[in-house]
Amino acid sequence: MIPNLSKIGVQMSSLTGVKAIAKDIIETLQTKQKQDFINLSAGNPVLLPKVEQMWRDCTAELLASSEYGEVVCRYGSSQGYILLIQAIANDFNRRYGLSLNESNILITPGSQMLYFYAVNAFGGYTSNGDLKQIVLPMSPEYTGYDGICLAPEALISYKPALDIDTKAHRFKYHPDFSNLAITANTGCILFSRPCNPTGNILSNDEIKKIAALAKPYNIPVFIDSAYGPPFPAINFRDMTLMFGENIVHCMSLSKVGLPGERIGIAIGDSKIIQVLQSFQTNLCLQPPHYGQAIAARAINSGAIEYISKEVIRPFYKNKISLLEAKLDQEIPKDLPWFLHWGEGAMFAWLWFNNLPISDLDLYQKLKQVGVIVVAGRFFFPGLQENWSHKHQCIRISLTASDEQIETAMERLAEVIQQVYKQTQ
Ligand SMILES: Cc1ncc(COP(=O)(O)O)c(C=O)c1O
Repeated sequence: MIPNLSKIGVQMSSLTGVKAIAKDIIETLQTKQKQDFINLSAGNPVLLPKVEQMWRDCTAELLASSEYGEVVCRYGSSQGYILLIQAIANDFNRRYGLSLNESNILITPGSQMLYFYAVNAFGGYTSNGDLKQIVLPMSPEYTGYDGICLAPEALISYKPALDIDTKAHRFKYHPDFSNLAITANTGCILFSRPCNPTGNILSNDEIKKIAALAKPYNIPVFIDSAYGPPFPAINFRDMTLMFGENIVHCMSLSKVGLPGERIGIAIGDSKIIQVLQSFQTNLCLQPPHYGQAIAARAINSGAIEYISKEVIRPFYKNKISLLEAKLDQEIPKDLPWFLHWGEGAMFAWLWFNNLPISDLDLYQKLKQVGVIVVAGRFFFPGLQENWSHKHQCIRISLTASDEQIETAMERLAEVIQQVYKQTQ
């Protein structure tokens, strides 16, 4: 049977962004396993034994407690499991001197779902027929923002300013405030910090500026902290969390070892939280309880903070240091390659200026030498402009073993030298 789909049906049943090439990656890995591919495309966090043990311990406690039946066998509040909400409020109030209460917090089935609520509640068509834009202040950005807008034309992103350190072969993106338009037509603002794919951490001043531009129009600013402190704390330099009237601080427990349980957290003004909560009630009644109940335990005991700082952060910090050292050693200095400063998250982002082939061709060439990365073009959701830079980057996941990362960087260095040489 050929399904007769609505406009939204067509839109939501086609894969966008990186998910569109996930098929090629899975097929490659399945059909040529013997060739021992080094897979540097993964977005799944590494299963670290101490992290797994923490969740096992919390689960054992839950199973042994009288709370179990209430958690698993009953419906609950559409706002989330009250003991998790209270654990987060207490933790954030103590840690950051806030005065959050339960009405400031919403739990969602994963943070991807939270962004779906946010962009569709605040972006898209108003009842007057006006289009409210969903603004990503700069590209590149998390590819998952691409498929979540029911009115995709609402998604707008801006070219960044580039701060290039030619000698060090490093660079950094900044929002280009001379270009960024936040107006009465803006519905909401969204960005990741630390950023997937680049590892960039926007500065406090940059965030204050964005929030100040948005405030006169009552525009909410959603800061996606999927990799930020206090957990999973995959930030390699200090960063201060930003709160404020129009800022919604968003978190995920996926990178602290619970991607399978789907837990997202929104912290912000109760009026905004209420809107998101109603969206959630209509969509799925409530987020599942089990993961929330074990997360409440891990937060209250302090285990989640300890594991984040002492296990998860050092793991990825060592990986990026290793990758940086290897690239510096292997790729000749006279080639125009630039690594984004690795400030956080689980990825390295490489830009090859004036790359003679496209990022997709580079992806194919790397596949031929047994290395799988992600072509950069998928990380520019909402950026309409024709910008050659979009086709000159790759994302490298830091989830492989040290040995695999080193071998892959050696092969990458060889391939990239050939690519530049061929066109000279
Ligand atoms: C920046 C960013 N935001 C959000 C998500 C979605 O996370 P989840 O839905 O598992 O909470 C991801 C997943 O990789 C991500 O990288």
